[in-house]
Amino acid sequence: MILVFIIFFFLFYALSYQWRFIKLSFSMPQAGGIPFIGLALKIRKLKDILPTLDKCIENLGDVFFFWLGPLPVIFINDADVANSVFTSKNCLDKASFYRPVAKYLGDGLFSLGSKEWQKHRRLLNPSFNQKTLLSFLPIFEQGANCIIEDLEKLEGKDASDFSQIFHKTSLNVAAETTMGRKMSVEGETDLLPHYQNMLNLGIIVISQPWLSIDFFFKRWKHFEKGTISVNLVSNFSKMLIKQKVESEKEDSGLKSIFIDQAISLVREKKFTLQELEDEAANMIFGAFETTASILYSLLMCMAFNPECQEKLYNEIITLMPEEREVTLQDLGNLSYMEMVIFETLRLLPAVPLIGRKTDRDLHLSNNLFVPKSTEFIISIFHIHRNKKYWGENALVFNPDNFLPENTSCRSSYAFMPFTRGIRNCIGKQYAMYSLKVVLSKIIRKFKFSTTAKFEELEYVEAVILKFRKIPEIKVQFR
Ligand code: HEM
Repeated sequence: MILVFIIFFFLFYALSYQWRFIKLSFSMPQAGGIPFIGLALKIRKLKDILPTLDKCIENLGDVFFFWLGPLPVIFINDADVANSVFTSKNCLDKASFYRPVAKYLGDGLFSLGSKEWQKHRRLLNPSFNQKTLLSFLPIFEQGANCIIEDLEKLEGKDASDFSQIFHKTSLNVAAETTMGRKMSVEGETDLLPHYQNMLNLGIIVISQPWLSIDFFFKRWKHFEKGTISVNLVSNFSKMLIKQKVESEKEDSGLKSIFIDQAISLVREKKFTLQELEDEAANMIFGAFETTASILYSLLMCMAFNPECQEKLYNEIITLMPEEREVTLQDLGNLSYMEMVIFETLRLLPAVPLIGRKTDRDLHLSNNLFVPKSTEFIISIFHIHRNKKYWGENALVFNPDNFLPENTSCRSSYAFMPFTRGIRNCIGKQYAMYSLKVVLSKIIRKFKFSTTAKFEELEYVEAVILKFRKIPEIKVQFR
């Protein structure tokens, strides 16, 4: 009898809590499935997420509701509605399914709740000022030279997947610009496989929500493997932080955007050492995986579109007939390159889906009333391919989409590879500078080709956009 009462009580409590969301679910198109399970079973596998969402958009339109297990989610493939989420002070919290990220990255900018996030972001923003970013140009150049050395070894050989070259270099560049030292040094453990292991395991944890519970997490078959990687990576940061904190000098002279700034915050007692370590992990992850995957995507797009590749090459040699270091002025003048980068980020955005959550009731721009604790998935991937904004040829690679005359009449929220609004990417300018430096060096030296076709790409949402099969690319000297 008592058991029946308890079950009844919990059912009543659960239903009354969820009632507002049940009402919400009836006020808009809803993706079918079983209530409270919803799409959770259909998108269990990462490869199924984007195709399932494609189908839902086809059947339900650009904004619809679905349950992700017990979580009420509004899916958004509309620039104006995305705008109202990204600019709202009440949608600064990340969606609940981001939480497990902290198991691997610690609690940093990516996953912090809105209150803590505002404090951290305010303190870290100054470390991304333009003067500091410009001081990284030589480090980006060195990174480009390492990539060139590796690409030379592939010259003239059969097409291959060489994306790993970009991961290795991007990790070193990210570590040097944020922590003041390369990641892989001879004689020390290579940390790249451990970073990749952490990312891959983090993605599995997100897609298997029960792993958020410590009891299951600690009994998980990959727990030990993950812990080894976390410890190795964290020891690396700890070692560098310790050396810096113990150093007498306030400024070591190293041009690191993040660590010098963050160490002074620790000295001023605005950050704890743990917060510093967590933010270090967030910065390195934020910087390396995204830029590495976009670099490979850029070369893929150039290989798919030889005429754009030639136009880009001509821009580079016209601006810099002799090979030399790229200057701030060059970065501003490489306008076709900027359009090529934007177009690549449009069709192949590094981060395809963004999750947010409301911390109070609010109205969206489409007048929809949304109760507190509703989750949002904003699909950058789909908005960037939505014919409403990009026309009938939305799926055609066309850098001219970013000519001023074409951008002026389009909502700015139709293109947001770094998101927009309040909680946008802190490293946008860093990313644009580093991509431009690397691209200008490798496109002037090599030509890239492939027999693969853009239309054949199959996408996997793995926090970062991945491909079921990475197209192979052939490298030739110019
Ligand atoms: C092409 C390269 C890059 C792309 C496409 C990109 C994209 C993004 C996106 C979409 C977000 C928002 C994630 C969300 O709200 O869930 C984000 C956040 C972030 N990015 Fe980037 N990013 C890039 C490069 C970088 C670089 C170079 C850094 C660091 C140097 C960086 C550091 C971060 C950090 C720390 C956040 C969290 C910001 C916050 O919540 O305050 N990113 N990035």
